[in-house]
Amino acid sequence: MKHNHKLFKGQTLGILTGGGDTPALNSSIESVRNRASLLGFKVYGIRKGWKGLLGEGDIVDLTHQPFDGNYGGTALKSSRTNPFPSKKNPENRVPQILANLKKYKIDVLLTIGGDDTNGAAKKLYETEGIPVIGFPKTIDNDLRTRTTHHYKGQEIESVICPGFPSAVKGTMEFTHRLRTTAESHSRIIVVEIMGRDAGWLAGGATYGGSEMALIPEFEITNERKALFFENVKEAYLSSPKKCLLIAVSEGVRWYNEKDGKVDVVYASSEVDEYGHPRFGGVSGIIASEITQKLGFEARAQIAGYYSRSGECRKYDRRLTQTLADKVADLLIREEYGQMPVLSKIVGYPDLEEFNTSSIDMGDVGNMTLPKEYYDVSKFQFTDTYLDFLSYIMGSVEFSKFDYNFPVVNPH
Ligand code: F6P
Repeated sequence: MKHNHKLFKGQTLGILTGGGDTPALNSSIESVRNRASLLGFKVYGIRKGWKGLLGEGDIVDLTHQPFDGNYGGTALKSSRTNPFPSKKNPENRVPQILANLKKYKIDVLLTIGGDDTNGAAKKLYETEGIPVIGFPKTIDNDLRTRTTHHYKGQEIESVICPGFPSAVKGTMEFTHRLRTTAESHSRIIVVEIMGRDAGWLAGGATYGGSEMALIPEFEITNERKALFFENVKEAYLSSPKKCLLIAVSEGVRWYNEKDGKVDVVYASSEVDEYGHPRFGGVSGIIASEITQKLGFEARAQIAGYYSRSGECRKYDRRLTQTLADKVADLLIREEYGQMPVLSKIVGYPDLEEFNTSSIDMGDVGNMTLPKEYYDVSKFQFTDTYLDFLSYIMGSVEFSKFDYNFPVVNPH
């Protein structure tokens, strides 16, 4: 007798990735594809985010294809296309999306993205009844996943999104490597780190040895700037090797003495279809003000895509597999309009489905760094945040060379 245990025989799942790439996207695609195809889904990849559902459509079959989830970026490619009318593109392209879902017979849509991509998916679910599952991703870690973090009797609402663990490790490595140059020249290096309006990612620099940090959540007014320079002076002069690493989020709001305004430094005036401008360049301004005001040699370095690129790290690999287990559960129950999340922050060995839950996509939104994670009076991340990061980072060891040679006095 022939058995057929496939639950969703004949149904098709379409997967797309939108927004900035992360090292964990291919791992997310592969993990979801593997589970969905076991359930009997045909699995299609929609290329270039929502763009792949416009016009004639741009769809590939992933069902039985070899797929390397360790390789960073997204094999489905990405875009910041918004199907709904926006300032940049007032056309409503939802009818094209609906037509292509019908034409390619896509029954369920899985959107891997941040608040923009999943916000659009949520709208399609609510207004058009499209069966949608959102899958979190962002190196900025600013998507509200309602993940709890317990530390010394406190319960903190935190966030963990695939892509962030790999990016935070990349940020740590980038920062750590700069130390030898800072030491060799007795310099201050201001390291600029991506993250848009949130300071989560800059925490990776602290793990890489940066002594101070500035984040977008606390704007640097004229008064705070004076305090910051005092702290920089003290930290530099008291450092054994006369050097200092300062992490600066790209979205820091910095007081501009010329116009008296506190604002972000923009890399360009262009905005994307979700209305986001590009940030960049604040590190150069801060480094040159340090040199002018304190007289110490300072340089700016931008981590940029170093954080965002390259292979998927171990924690992300397992996190995406764990969240994909939850996706399988949602598919089996036909629960749509949901996003799988980690319910509490756990270390690598505890990344298992019983530590996940799902949240209503209507409740997803942006979340910046909780106040418990940063001490603005010291311009430093707190031990509470370092504890949170330790779940992701595991134990980190760097080589050290504590030289202090005796000075020779000629007689
Ligand atoms: O949202 C991810 C992110 O890398 C942000 O940290 C950064 O501001 C932005 O994307 C830059 O995007 P792109 O260079 O792709 O325009």
